[in-house]
Amino acid sequence: IKKISQIYIVACGSAYHVGVVAQYVMEDLAKIPVRVELASEFRYRKPLLDPDGLVIVISQSGETADSLAALRLAKDKGLRTLGIVNVVGSSIARESDLVLYTKAGSEIAVATTKAYSAQTALLSLIALNIGQKNISKAELKELLESIKKLPAQMEILLNKDKKYQEIAETIYNKEDIFFIGRDIDYAIAMEGSLKLKEISYIHSEAYPAGELKHGTISLIEEGTPVISIVTNKNIAEKTISNIKEVKSRGAEVILLTNSKCDVDSDFYNKKIVIPTTHKLIQPLLTILPLQKISYEVAKLRGADIDQPKNLAKSVTVE
Ligand code: G6P
Repeated sequence: IKKISQIYIVACGSAYHVGVVAQYVMEDLAKIPVRVELASEFRYRKPLLDPDGLVIVISQSGETADSLAALRLAKDKGLRTLGIVNVVGSSIARESDLVLYTKAGSEIAVATTKAYSAQTALLSLIALNIGQKNISKAELKELLESIKKLPAQMEILLNKDKKYQEIAETIYNKEDIFFIGRDIDYAIAMEGSLKLKEISYIHSEAYPAGELKHGTISLIEEGTPVISIVTNKNIAEKTISNIKEVKSRGAEVILLTNSKCDVDSDFYNKKIVIPTTHKLIQPLLTILPLQKISYEVAKLRGADIDQPKNLAKSVTVE
């Protein structure tokens, strides 16, 4: 991996969203160019691939038809391939040159949660492994210590059911819900939005906060929920100014933030404070409240949370 020129991450659904997180983390830490692609697009768009590149296919099931086809295309073109797979012995695991198992245990619910977290953790560790030479000893130590604290911090977040129920009460009967964020927070917004629409059937969209003014802002009305994610203090101010824009148009702002970012209480209706950690592993914490809120919303709407309509756990046909 240390000799490769470029990484192509290919996946579908939530696994693709893991790829979007990994793109930010890998480029920041490992300093290798990363391109993330949806497998269903990659397989048909005649991609120009650098022969010294590595194709990483992320898949919980290891059987998703488009991801498998993308893997075969990459191999036909002579690129090395790495599968990040949960199901041992699955097609993608068998056909990849290298495989790393996420070992999240079997996942039954259609909408992925723990596999998403395991994939994100694994890719972050790969980035750290490649990129440790690019950071100071002190930062490496801080990162490793932050990783060790994650399980306890996750536990805290998973035990805030009352808070998630309270937020779900305010949004479960809405028709449109928007998610905004910048940088890695945008990658998390994408997954939060997918989770919500998959299991609650509410229309939702994730938008990079800076793009709001190029479209979505026209849809913001009195009472439209905007779930706003602000965890990186370096760009917090920019996202906060977008939050002000939606708030002044009547949006109901649900803010996810940490102690590093200071957001004036005039600009949100509800707030969830996420434990602070190193910015590159923050996604592992930020996603949890979003998964739990989706769960509580779906419950209030009487939806079948484990088996949402029209969706399959593993999509083995095109
Ligand atoms: C389906 C599942 C999603 C999953 C996607 C990709 O749509 O409902 O949760 O992210 O397939 O599946 P894979 O097994 O390749 O990760």
